[in-house]
Amino acid sequence: MRIDVVSIFPDYFAPLSLSLVGKAIDKGLLQVGVHDLRQWTHDRHNTVDDTPYGGGAGMVMKPEPWGECLDELTDGLDEPPVLVVPTPSGVPFSQPIAYELSERSHLLFACGRYEGIDHRVFEHAEQRMEVRELSLGDYVLNGGEVATLAMVEAVVRLIPGVIGNPASLEEESHSAGQDNLLEYPVYTKPPSWRGLDVPEVLFSGHHARIAAWRRQQSEALTRRRRPDLLD
Ligand code: ADE
Repeated sequence: MRIDVVSIFPDYFAPLSLSLVGKAIDKGLLQVGVHDLRQWTHDRHNTVDDTPYGGGAGMVMKPEPWGECLDELTDGLDEPPVLVVPTPSGVPFSQPIAYELSERSHLLFACGRYEGIDHRVFEHAEQRMEVRELSLGDYVLNGGEVATLAMVEAVVRLIPGVIGNPASLEEESHSAGQDNLLEYPVYTKPPSWRGLDVPEVLFSGHHARIAAWRRQQSEALTRRRRPDLLD
């Protein structure tokens, strides 16, 4: 997979060379390109924003630098990338969407700042490529950078070969096959710590009883924290 990221704060993406995503790059499973939007400006101040038509607070990102950037990053490709635009007004990002994106060969993340990007950039891009406006959740961040980091991590760990033990993907919360239940609590050694004991059933070696206990814990936790998932 190839991932390109465009932002006015490329330094945000230094962590992509760390941990699992960094290892995916080292293994040759992933290529990442981080680009500064200001390289597609032509004025002395490298201006990327202007006042909104119709009035209102804040600034809007100008279409010209975005247009030139998308032209340059997509010209000559055999297949256009999926353009991912993190925005609080997007479709909620979820594990199924992460799986879908992990199967694509090229993602291009466009990180907006201020009040967003001039809408015509997306209208124009839609004529040439798939555009996904996605929200990380019902809260407002200062820009798309942190949301991009979260989405990239969620997607990259699903690329075959990135995670050592693929069974761990199957068991975790929000993955297919878990009936929409949250993950049960987990324990490791020592068996007793600060007066708190690991639940007895986990020492039993009885796989069916352990599975039943975990299922019951998952159901109780989901009922308490995320009743919406049970509908
Ligand atoms: N940009 C600002 N807030 C955001 C959010 N909640 N999700 C995705 N992108 C954002």
